[in-house]
Amino acid sequence: MSLRLAVLGSGSGSNCQSIFNAIDDGRLDAEVVIVLSDHADAYILERARQRGVRAEVMDCGGFKNKFPLECQESVAALLKELKVDMVCLAGFMRLVKEPLLRAFPNRILNIHPALLPAFPGVEAWKQALEAGAETTGCTVHYVDAGMDTGEIIMQSHVPVMPDDTAQSLHARIQVQEHILYPAAILSAVARL
Ligand code: GRF
Repeated sequence: MSLRLAVLGSGSGSNCQSIFNAIDDGRLDAEVVIVLSDHADAYILERARQRGVRAEVMDCGGFKNKFPLECQESVAALLKELKVDMVCLAGFMRLVKEPLLRAFPNRILNIHPALLPAFPGVEAWKQALEAGAETTGCTVHYVDAGMDTGEIIMQSHVPVMPDDTAQSLHARIQVQEHILYPAAILSAVARL
């Protein structure tokens, strides 16, 4: 039976698109049953709607960065009702805590644009550039209550070029992200 996925994102959703593409070309036996965002105008919602996937905005109570516990509880209840097997964070900018973690133990994944444990947090590609790293990359990991601290599932390396800008480096990392995320989902499924 194919895997039931939920994708949570705050932005453009190119990683969500890479999951759709992997499903369509047979690399991933899965169905995205819902896409949730904390921003009504996030393009990730548009990508879902264009595909006919249920797309909804979560009510974060007007908080800019906080992911209120009541909101996490209602998201967990909705995902349980939809019989979701795995939750993929794809550019989701709020910290997941107990209500969701408890509902989906070892079933929440995140993609991060650096080789964790190096450069956790925001704009990791910029952090790598500013630190003078010769190599960076991307990581798919299990989500725990910390920021980008959960067990690593898979990583891809990306060299930093001498003429790289933050933008060019992030673009090259994203090319790798789009290959890595579907592969890492498969690896996580094999461990269930
Ligand atoms: C990606 O670089 C991802 O690693 C990070 O946020 C970005 C999301 O991009 N967590 P997109 O919305 O999937 O295009």
